[in-house]
Amino acid sequence: MLITFEGIDGAGKSTQIRKLRKWLAEQEVEVLVLREPGGTATAEKIRDILLESRDNISPIGELLLFSASRAELVQKVILPALETGKTVILDRFFDSTTAYQGYGRGIDRRMLQTVIDLSVFSLRPDLTFYLDISPENAMLRKFSEKSLPIAFDDTELDRIERSGLDFFRRVRQGYLDIIKEEAERFVVLDALDKPQTLHKRIIESVSPHVPGKRNPSESSTGDGR
Ligand code: TMP
Repeated sequence: MLITFEGIDGAGKSTQIRKLRKWLAEQEVEVLVLREPGGTATAEKIRDILLESRDNISPIGELLLFSASRAELVQKVILPALETGKTVILDRFFDSTTAYQGYGRGIDRRMLQTVIDLSVFSLRPDLTFYLDISPENAMLRKFSEKSLPIAFDDTELDRIERSGLDFFRRVRQGYLDIIKEEAERFVVLDALDKPQTLHKRIIESVSPHVPGKRNPSESSTGDGR
């Protein structure tokens, strides 16, 4: 089973992924957690270029670098893991490309889809959790201990995060459009809900896919936070 998490930067995916991994391990499900971009030695180098570079990478260059990292990860790690029956949790997958490079950077959807198809080897998620948050709230979260207004050239931000509020508004709209197109795959969550509320909703959706686990109310909800 492939479970993906999506959302704009600052939506709180990492916390929920950590909780879900723990819960699945408690159910004795073999689980592998990966992130995009990254996950192989080459893909981690591509991640560095994409996020840490101070260069102005062109939109198409960016699309191809994300896709190169994805092809590496899918072919070398994800497909072999799924073949041995592992559950893979993936922090971002091709929906990020549609939202960020398609809606955010304005790359044509048809051209983008061709590149996505090339990099995923027909792999599709069984379930995708989308954590919805406004870019303003996401930035407030990240900068909660700092004073406003936020400077988008802040050195604490990576190359993508420095793209500004309008970029993230487009990315969020992108996600909302993708969800309308493929509603059956998505579980939409309000990222401002309490972490434990979100975790409960997530295991309610994952439980039916776990052998011998049909009723989530019979099980614990992870680390109790
Ligand atoms: P993250 O690991 O902190 O989420 O950082 C990854 C960044 O890369 C995040 O800003 C989203 C962005 N991204 C894209 O723009 N396109 C993609 O296809 C992927 C996977 C990520």
